[in-house]
Amino acid sequence: MYVNVAVLKETHPHERRVALVPSVAAKLIKLGAKLHMQSGAADAIKLTDAAFKDVAFIDDRKELVGDADVVLAVQPPALDVINAMKEGAILISFVYANKELALVQRLLDKKITCFAMERVPRITRAQAMDALSSQSALAGYYAVQLGATHLARILPKITTAAGAIGPAKVLVMGLGVAGLEAIATAHRLGAVVEGYDVRPETEEQALSLGATFVETGVDARGKGGYARELTAAEKTKIDAVVTQHIQQSDLIITTAEIPGRPSPKLISTSQVAGMKAGAVIVDLSAEGGGNCEDTRPGETAQVGQVTIVAPLNVPSLLAQDASELYAKNVAALLALMMKDNIITLNWDDEVLAKTVLTHDGKMHSDKSEHDAYPSNKADKTEVKTPTSKTPTSKAPAAKTPVKAA
Ligand SMILES: NC(=O)c1ccc[n+]([C@@H]2O[C@H](COP(=O)([O-])OP(=O)(O)OC[C@H]3O[C@@H](n4cnc5c(N)ncnc54)[C@H](O)[C@@H]3O)[C@@H](O)[C@H]2O)c1
Repeated sequence: MYVNVAVLKETHPHERRVALVPSVAAKLIKLGAKLHMQSGAADAIKLTDAAFKDVAFIDDRKELVGDADVVLAVQPPALDVINAMKEGAILISFVYANKELALVQRLLDKKITCFAMERVPRITRAQAMDALSSQSALAGYYAVQLGATHLARILPKITTAAGAIGPAKVLVMGLGVAGLEAIATAHRLGAVVEGYDVRPETEEQALSLGATFVETGVDARGKGGYARELTAAEKTKIDAVVTQHIQQSDLIITTAEIPGRPSPKLISTSQVAGMKAGAVIVDLSAEGGGNCEDTRPGETAQVGQVTIVAPLNVPSLLAQDASELYAKNVAALLALMMKDNIITLNWDDEVLAKTVLTHDGKMHSDKSEHDAYPSNKADKTEVKTPTSKTPTSKAPAAKTPVKAA
């Protein structure tokens, strides 16, 4: 009695992470998994196949997933992988459905139960499964390292016989998980750190990490703990305060996001023109277009005397740690559905109900839709696995088809 779990080798360009590491493999085996991995899946993090005990390695990815009850990946898999999966099997990976319409259609056609890691609810009980947070924390740390290596000056105060050099000024804009980790890292490295956000509760968090807070008087709290888009009047009010801080900074780290929207522009071209010579901006929001008007996603641009660094997929640059944390997030999610060597999907569980994207040929396209299925709350579904006994009822009904953003 066991659950067949298959782990893919990532194929997206520049993706170095893997969804399983040896320490987590042991935990999954305890839960009742029989593990299979694609050969070389962890090569990019310098782990050979031999580093994984009690894991079977298979070269061909179609053969790997063909018999799997659960397929694990970091990025959304290619269509041929979904085609090769058995009907009713489970996929766990990041998906971002609005960018993956063909994939989602295939998941529906094959009745794959897909748990999309970006949908894990931001609630206390789901913290161990929250891959957005684990990966963002690493990115926030790395942004400071990237900024420091692009600066022609040091971050801490230093005193030599020839005289003292004062600490660098770092401004962190956007104080979610990544921004707070950036504050903590820059503070540890000895910089003088300021934080800014449009959610007022971040002031206390910034202060607790050793930063000061740039108070703008704007409160743009949106739904679910996220920020909302600003009005033109709010932008003007903020610019009047923030411009001065931008111009005094040696290093600026931007992390601002608004769910489902392009990255908000926090730094204009004219504000960049007014920055110190040699200053650096690290824009962590490049995937969504960037927080600075002069950002070129995926590039390091020289704009006048300012360097703007805008890396894509930052967690992949720290793939060893990112893989370990991601694998732990996935294992915590699997632990909600694996018991006694079978998989039981209990839709009473808020985390499963909110993370599921497709099930039984139906789409669960956004969070508000999940809130709309109380009538199905009593449903429990056993997934067909070689060990499960009686597949029973259905998932909550989907109401809207997949749409482009
Ligand atoms: N388990 C949990 O309880 C849990 C875990 C992680 C995050 N959270 C919460 O989820 C929320 C989102 O966190 P995240 O890291 O995903 O954030 P995010 O990536 O969505 O955004 C980063 C930050 O940018 C800020 N921002 C947006 N527009 C801005 C603007 N115009 N100017 C300045 N800042 C702007 C946001 O307020 C946010 O703090 C936060 O409230 C966080 O505390 C909760």
